[in-house]
Amino acid sequence: MKRIIIEGQHPLSGTIEIGGAKNSVVALMPACLLADGVVKLTNVPNISDKDALTQIMYLLGAKVTNKGNELEVDSSNVKNCEIPDELSRKLRASYYFMGILLGKYKHAEVYLPGGCNIGTRPINLHLKGFESLGATVVREGDKYILDAKELKGAPINLEFASVGATINIMFAAIYAEGTTTISNAARETEIVNIADFLNRMGAKITGAGTKTIIIEGVKKLHPADIEVIPDRIEAGTYIIIGSLIGDNLTVKGIVPEHIKALLDKLTEMNIKYELKGNEITVSKSEHITPVNVKTLVYPGFPTDLGQPIQVLLTQADGISYFDETIWEKRLQHVPQLLKMGANIKCMDSHAEIMGPTKLKGAKLTATDLRGGAALVLASLIAEGTTIIDDADHILRGYERIIQKLSKVGAKIRIEEI
Ligand code: EPZ
Repeated sequence: MKRIIIEGQHPLSGTIEIGGAKNSVVALMPACLLADGVVKLTNVPNISDKDALTQIMYLLGAKVTNKGNELEVDSSNVKNCEIPDELSRKLRASYYFMGILLGKYKHAEVYLPGGCNIGTRPINLHLKGFESLGATVVREGDKYILDAKELKGAPINLEFASVGATINIMFAAIYAEGTTTISNAARETEIVNIADFLNRMGAKITGAGTKTIIIEGVKKLHPADIEVIPDRIEAGTYIIIGSLIGDNLTVKGIVPEHIKALLDKLTEMNIKYELKGNEITVSKSEHITPVNVKTLVYPGFPTDLGQPIQVLLTQADGISYFDETIWEKRLQHVPQLLKMGANIKCMDSHAEIMGPTKLKGAKLTATDLRGGAALVLASLIAEGTTIIDDADHILRGYERIIQKLSKVGAKIRIEEI
């Protein structure tokens, strides 16, 4: 197990470069299997989720060549086979192989996905979408077996704008005969990145990024290359760090419109920042205005920045109100913040956060990826030293976080224990 140790209260100056988006690459990698041949992904973040997906793709016969932040995938010899339990459980995104294998081979055997324990995380909308296209879904214990004689395009309305279901149904509909329309589709930026990749390979997808996505089925896809978009959640996390303890901290390689909800919230909090092209410079703010934060689907305030921004709210001058509306267990990190002296009252997915509160270093345990990130943020401003156990959660989504923070002056190290 990995342990992160941080000595707090060191102002951070200099530039942090943002990498490729975790929530894009975990769908782009399986998508490489849709076209027989060699495809190239660039701006790929080196995160542990990528390694888990590589193992699954090897198992399916794909040749994956890692070249720094580039990934070359040769799918010429892919053979469909069951994705075993121990691999499926390594991450949430293993469920994308359901849509990919069903779409390409009309058969898939995949175990329940893993991922952060932030709620029940059902996949009913994915499965209903597959059935709408003509697939049968059988569950044997924790394994799903998907079969289809043929896949026919259909109108599919998502009762919730689910990111995963939107992407997975796109995958399964690529080769379906006729037109598939996804209504109430998720609009997250990663979906646009994935549709762009599929269209470069010869798919016919329109409307990605809007509530209605239309997929015209095609017979074949050909290899193509794609660049992974910058990670808006990584960017937002470092921008919040700059608001907490930056001394002209610059976050580089961002797409401002992808984090508009965060930037608008920081402005509401009277946090000053300088935006120049794809760079933003931000410093610790003396008087932070307390605000209300409610997480919503894109383009609303992202749930994945909910836990990080709560740390900023502990430093606001007064009481802030926080509501998580996407996941039912996304406040499980709060007891760790209370150990540091934070003044937070939780009722289900609602939190009342009093500030400004001096935080003190403590011995903590990360509960999930973004909750773990919140503990890192709190440790950077806390008096004294903080130990964060189960830090593996954090490494799933933040590429080279130790190096990136050390480079701008943080006293942070990682140990294997
Ligand atoms: C993606 O998860 C992201 N993960 C999550 O990021 C992110 O929090 C989430 O989208 C929302 O933006 C990846 O992309 C790998 P959903 P996903 O399907 O696709 C319910 C991180 O920290 N739902 O949009 O699993 C579900 O219970 C991770 O990087 C169903 O009810 O999210 C939840 O309440 C955490 N049935 C809501 O929809 C379904 O079939 C949002 O889920 C699917 C989802």
